[in-house]
Amino acid sequence: MDKFIIQGGKKLEGTVNVSGAKNASLALMPAVLLTSGISKLYNTPRLNDVFTMIKLLTQMGVKIEFNNEELIIDSTGIFSYEAPYELVKKMRASIYVLGPLVSRYGYAKVSLPGGCAWGPRPINLHLMALERMGASIELVQGYIIAKTRKLNGAKINFDIPSVGATGNTLMAATLAKGTTIINNAACEPEITNLANFLVNMGAKISGIGTSILEVEGVDELKPAEIETIPDRIEAGTLLVAAAITKGNIELKGANENHLYSILSKLEESGISLSINNGSIKLDARNSEIKSVNVTTSVFPGFPTDMQAQWIALMCLANGTSNVTDTIYYDRFNHVPELIRLGADIVVNENTARVVGVKKLTGAKVMSTDLRASASLVLAGLAAEGVTEVLRVYHLDRGYQRIEEKLNSLGAEIQRVQSSEY
Ligand code: EPZ
Repeated sequence: MDKFIIQGGKKLEGTVNVSGAKNASLALMPAVLLTSGISKLYNTPRLNDVFTMIKLLTQMGVKIEFNNEELIIDSTGIFSYEAPYELVKKMRASIYVLGPLVSRYGYAKVSLPGGCAWGPRPINLHLMALERMGASIELVQGYIIAKTRKLNGAKINFDIPSVGATGNTLMAATLAKGTTIINNAACEPEITNLANFLVNMGAKISGIGTSILEVEGVDELKPAEIETIPDRIEAGTLLVAAAITKGNIELKGANENHLYSILSKLEESGISLSINNGSIKLDARNSEIKSVNVTTSVFPGFPTDMQAQWIALMCLANGTSNVTDTIYYDRFNHVPELIRLGADIVVNENTARVVGVKKLTGAKVMSTDLRASASLVLAGLAAEGVTEVLRVYHLDRGYQRIEEKLNSLGAEIQRVQSSEY
């Protein structure tokens, strides 16, 4: 199990590229189950979650190979419609195979994903949608068994604009008989990326990018290609890394249309930014970081996946800020670890009250989940002395060798094997 040894206090300087989006790839890859033949996903990041999805699809008979950043996927020989517990428990996004399988093959056996580091993450909306489209859903020994002769289009309303439920329902609706309306659909860029891929495959979807999607079912979809969008959360994480170290970087390959909420909060905190077509320059060399309140919300609001990273930045701001997560009420496992570095934070229900301190001091801290580990790395970059971040396998799920990117900007991070856990 690897850990990071971080020598804090280095200002980040230089240019760095953003990789393809994890949460787009994890939706685009299962979409190939809807068709038979060779599809190509460009700009796919080499992340552990992507490799887990490769394992999941491969054990179904899909042939997948990486060719540089291109993922070549042959969905001709699918022979299994099951997603086993061993893989689903590693990655909740495995649930994305449910919609395509039941829509194309009339059957799917998918393990219930169970909880995650910060509590229960239900899938009731996924199941409600498929039932409304005519699937029979049974829960048998921890597995979802979904069956149908043929899905029918339906009017579906989501109480919560769930990203996963929107993705699953959208994929299922493409081959259903008739028209499906998804009301209160998620508008995240990753869902738009998925919808565009499905259209390239021959799906008939209108309202893409809005919260009302209309899908006219077709008989068959053909293999297609798509460019994976840049990862807005990796982009936000790298920008906060530059801000927290009072550095000066240029970020290349990001899509600023996916980042407005993060960019405006950075500017509000006194960081100077200059943005033009895919290049974002951040100069925090003379910035006094101001305390800025954040409340997460669905896109285009401030993403919950940047909440932990924002708290890390606010630990060194010159005042008190409140960071509220309205998506996940208990996503604060990073707070006790940040306090070990000297942060002054109190969590009350789903709000962290952060009193900025003059400095953080390096210590040994424990990653608990993907974005929590990112926030510990960010704090370690700014802390005085050495910070050891344990269990960086969490980080590797969603960032492609982030220490190499940060070290290329002047950070001093060593990845070492560790028997500590
Ligand atoms: C996606 O998860 C992302 N994962 C998450 O990113 C992200 O935090 C989340 O969307 C919110 O933006 C992927 O895309 C692979 P949701 P998902 O369904 O689809 C509730 C990361 O760090 N809900 O939009 O699981 C749920 O409890 C990961 O990259 C139901 O109640 O999120 C939550 O409160 C972490 N019933 C809210 O909706 C359901 O059936 C949003 O969840 C589904 C969701």
